[in-house]
Amino acid sequence: MKFWIIVTLIVLGEVLQNALCQQHKRTKEAGDNRIRPGNKRMKPRVPKGKDRESGFSGKSQSIMTRVLDKGRFLKLSGSYISNSGESLELRCKGSQIGWAYPVYLDTFKDSRLSIKQHDKYSQLLLSGTSAADTGEFSCWPLLCDGSECTKDVDKTTTTYIYFTDKEELFVPSTSYFEIIYLRPDRPSIIPCRVTSPAVKVALHMEVPPQEIPVDGDQISFDPKEGFIMHKPGPEHRGVFYCKASLRGTPQMSVKYQLLYVEVPSGPPSVTIEASSSRVMGGDNINVTCTVLGEPEVEVDFTWTYPGQDQRPVIIKEAWRLINRGMGHTTRISQSVITVEDAETIDFGNYVCTAKNLQGQTSVAARVDSY
Ligand SMILES: *[C@@H]1O[C@H](CO)[C@@H](O)[C@H](O)[C@H]1NC(C)=O
Repeated sequence: MKFWIIVTLIVLGEVLQNALCQQHKRTKEAGDNRIRPGNKRMKPRVPKGKDRESGFSGKSQSIMTRVLDKGRFLKLSGSYISNSGESLELRCKGSQIGWAYPVYLDTFKDSRLSIKQHDKYSQLLLSGTSAADTGEFSCWPLLCDGSECTKDVDKTTTTYIYFTDKEELFVPSTSYFEIIYLRPDRPSIIPCRVTSPAVKVALHMEVPPQEIPVDGDQISFDPKEGFIMHKPGPEHRGVFYCKASLRGTPQMSVKYQLLYVEVPSGPPSVTIEASSSRVMGGDNINVTCTVLGEPEVEVDFTWTYPGQDQRPVIIKEAWRLINRGMGHTTRISQSVITVEDAETIDFGNYVCTAKNLQGQTSVAARVDSY
C-alpha cells in the first residue's frame, strides 16, 4: 500500500510539472493523470472539478486502465511512472480495440508482449518490463463497417509510461553511437530520453569538452524526447552526449554524432551519363542517373527510353551516404538502366526523371549508333 502512495505522489508531481511546462504546446494530448487506486470497477466517470489542468470534458475520457494486483484498477492518460521489472497489464474498453506501443517491442518481435481481445475490453500484457519499454502506449476503439475499420480518433487514449530504473536513467539505445542530421530549416532532437521525469539531464559536447547551456529557447529538454535544438546551425556539429543524475553517480548516454546538412531542400539535382554515346549493335548500354541530396530524402526514379514497351531492360536502384568531411553528409541515389544487346530501336534519348516531395527534375542522355 505504501508503495502506491509513493507512486501516486510521484505521478501527481508529474501532473503539476506537465501542467506548468506543457500546457501550451501539448494541448492535443493534454489528458490529465487521473489516479483512482482502489477503484474496483472500470466505471466511466466524468472528471471532477479537481482534475483541472486539462480543461477536458467527459468526451475525451480515458478508456485505458492499468490492472494492479488484487483486482485494483488505475485509469491512465497523460503520463505514468511504473517500476521496471513489474509486469504491465493494460485494458481498453471496447469490443474492437487497436493498440500502439513503443516500436522497440515490434522491432524485436518481443514474446513478452501479448494482446487479447475479450468481449468488452482488450488486454495488453507486457511481462518483465525494463527501462527500454519506456514510451507511448495508446489504444482506440475501431469503428468497423464490414471488414473496413477506422480509428476512433476522439476516443484514442495515449499514456506515456516511464519504466523507472535507477541503474538505467536513460532509455537504453540499441546502438552505441547515433547519427543525427541537423538542418537549418527544422528542429533536431538528441534523443536521450529518460526513465523518470525527475532525472536531471545536461547536454555535453565532447570536443572541446563543455556543457551546453540549455536556455529553453534555442535548446530545450523534454524527458519524453530528449534535447530539442530549435534552430540548429553548423556550430552544433560534433559529438555530444547527455549526462543524467538522480542522487548517486551520474550516468552517460550513448554518443551522438551531429552532422550538418547543407544541401538546400528542393527538387532533386540530377546528373545523367551513358556508358558511351555511340555504340554498335550487339553492345550493352548503361545509362546512370545520379542525385545528390539530403541524407533522409528519398528519391523516386522513372525512365523513358527508345525501346519502351518493346524490349526488356534492367533497372537497378541504390543509394548510400557519403561523408564529405567537416560533418557534412550527402545522400547519393542512383538508378542505372541497362540495355543488353542493343538494336536499332534502342538508339535515341534516355530520359531520367527523379522525384522527391519537393518536385521533380528530368535529364536526358543520347545514345547513337556508329
Ligand atoms: C554496365 O554496368 C554493369 C554493372 O555495373 C557492368 O558490369 C557493365 O560492364 C556495364 N556495361 C557497360 C557497357 O558499361
